[in-house]
Amino acid sequence: MKSNASDELKRKAGESAAELVEDGMIIGLGTGSTVAHTIRRIGERIKSEGMRIKAVPTSYQSEMLAIESSIELTTLQQHPRLDIAIDGADQADENLNVIKGGGAAHTREKIVSFAARRFVVVVDEGKLSDKLSIPVPLEVISFASPLVEDAIKGLGGNAVLRNAIQKDGPVISDSGNIIMDADFGVIDDPAGLSHALSGIPGLVEHGIFLNVSEIHAAGKKGVSLITRNISR
Ligand code: 5RP
Repeated sequence: MKSNASDELKRKAGESAAELVEDGMIIGLGTGSTVAHTIRRIGERIKSEGMRIKAVPTSYQSEMLAIESSIELTTLQQHPRLDIAIDGADQADENLNVIKGGGAAHTREKIVSFAARRFVVVVDEGKLSDKLSIPVPLEVISFASPLVEDAIKGLGGNAVLRNAIQKDGPVISDSGNIIMDADFGVIDDPAGLSHALSGIPGLVEHGIFLNVSEIHAAGKKGVSLITRNISR
């Protein structure tokens, strides 16, 4: 599920969004190799500019990286509204719909993005696509997995368990649930599918995000900004 884009493009996209952070902000930090560049760059700005910010991390990985980068941590209990959340994605379409969850962190990522006034996604341009078409990550309570699998079939998809690489058995999310990847082929109606998936009991969260404010996409010629031109 992970793209093989050069780290250089990921760095350009990640660092571009780090410039949006301002002194005093409460921010959300996504998960993955692209936003890791954002986190490191924010850490550098804290050191060089004396910025004071607080951050809610979306995973163990981003929490550790934030600590390493001297970024002060906070929680949604302390700060339920965030000024901005920045995160990576696995695929993005031209209408700013994205699929996330390649790192199995999409549940916390969706919560944090929902808490933010502005949700910025950082990708290399290889992840841009006319339509969403990669399998949709699902965080599932294992007790419900056969029912979820059936429900996905009913929606015309095929869900498979995501297996761990350096562990026998399934990938387990930071919240202790299993991850499945549901292939629907080309997704013509991301909003409709998102709504249908949200109605399946035992499916904690799916990886279709419809709330992106802007995308920073890095290519060989630089970083382009894809913004929403319709008001929501
Ligand atoms: C984690 C995610 C990541 O943001 C997504 O998988 C992109 O990762 P990377 O920047 O490493 O390609 O959704 O759950």
